[in-house]
Amino acid sequence: MEIGIIGATGYSGVELYRLLCGHPEKPAVTLFSSSKEGQYITDEYPQLTEITNKGMLHKLSADHIKKMDIVFSCAPSGVSTEILPPLLDAGIRVIDLAGDYRLKDSVLYEKWYKKPAPPERWLHEAVYGLSEWNKEKIQSAQLIANPGCYPTAVSLALLPLLKHNLIDPLTIIADAKSGLSGAGASLAKSAHYAQANENTVIYKMNQHQHIPEMEKNFASIGKTDVTMTFSTHLVPMTRGIMATIYSELEPGKSPQNVLRALQECYEKEHFVRVHPENTMLGTKQVYGSNYCDISFSFDERTGRLTLYSVIDNLLKGAAGQALHNMNIMMDLDETAGLQLIPQFP
Ligand SMILES: NC(=O)c1ccc[n+]([C@@H]2O[C@H](COP(=O)([O-])OP(=O)(O)OC[C@H]3O[C@@H](n4cnc5c(N)ncnc54)[C@H](OP(=O)(O)O)[C@@H]3O)[C@@H](O)[C@H]2O)c1
Repeated sequence: MEIGIIGATGYSGVELYRLLCGHPEKPAVTLFSSSKEGQYITDEYPQLTEITNKGMLHKLSADHIKKMDIVFSCAPSGVSTEILPPLLDAGIRVIDLAGDYRLKDSVLYEKWYKKPAPPERWLHEAVYGLSEWNKEKIQSAQLIANPGCYPTAVSLALLPLLKHNLIDPLTIIADAKSGLSGAGASLAKSAHYAQANENTVIYKMNQHQHIPEMEKNFASIGKTDVTMTFSTHLVPMTRGIMATIYSELEPGKSPQNVLRALQECYEKEHFVRVHPENTMLGTKQVYGSNYCDISFSFDERTGRLTLYSVIDNLLKGAAGQALHNMNIMMDLDETAGLQLIPQFP
């Protein structure tokens, strides 16, 4: 297999490269960089020394990509809109980790991302890569829009309940926390040690670009359109997302229905682990793995259900899910290169 990674020097790109270095199919991987052409990935990331060759960084060119089976793009949102259409027009299969192709509606994209939308053709052809929920389409897709990290954690927990009409979709509030690697490797004031350490910060309240992505996911499965409340926080840890999601159970539905719906949806899925009611979760139990762990509690006093969902943002929320999608597209064992046991402590 011939694989390319655009944006290989970023956090998701280098995580993907690490996973591909351990993939049983031993793919030939070409790394692309827009700023470090001619250097080696091991210059920046010495942990990869002697794991593979030194990982020369190349400038993206038509010649390089023409014989590739799959190209991953780990570039920022906005960049994918510019650089991917020529690759797609040339027939290359692409998995894009950015948000550019996740929304089918260009007006919605421009409103939330505040950038020009990608060409309509590719916006419509893109297949949303929430692996457990879209396998058939992923298998034959040319372009995968890999889900955002928050939407992965929130959607995997909520979709089974919406599918079985167990909760009132108009009562959903998702409260999420992320480690700093969620913001990528480039420097920002909010990521300075002095600002992030011993601090928890709420950001983009009611304005996060992942809101329409999640509402689209819910609308695809439920009977009504959903408008949700979504809050995001940066917490002083490196990896991890915890989503705490509140909603009201529909009349006559019970916590037993909730557990059954979650178990039924995921009993054949390797990467989603459903825990019994009232199991308290933490991000460290999925750290360094491609798992999403889910549980819930029900408060009889208020009639409110609280769901918990934890992932590693760089794996299940980015590179891990992208590789899972590649395995599905290439008809490989879904767990190939992803049998990662969470690290602790
Ligand atoms: N971090 C996460 O947890 C996470 C989760 C889900 C999705 N994502 C998405 O995945 C993508 C990568 O995220 P990240 O966190 O890995 O970001 P990052 O660490 O900032 O890396 C992005 C990389 O993109 C490359 N790049 C920048 N401008 C480019 C251009 N004009 N053309 C080509 N490449 C360019 C850069 O590498 P070079 O300078 O070497 O080209 C940079 O290292 C983003 O779209 C992000 O939204 C991230």
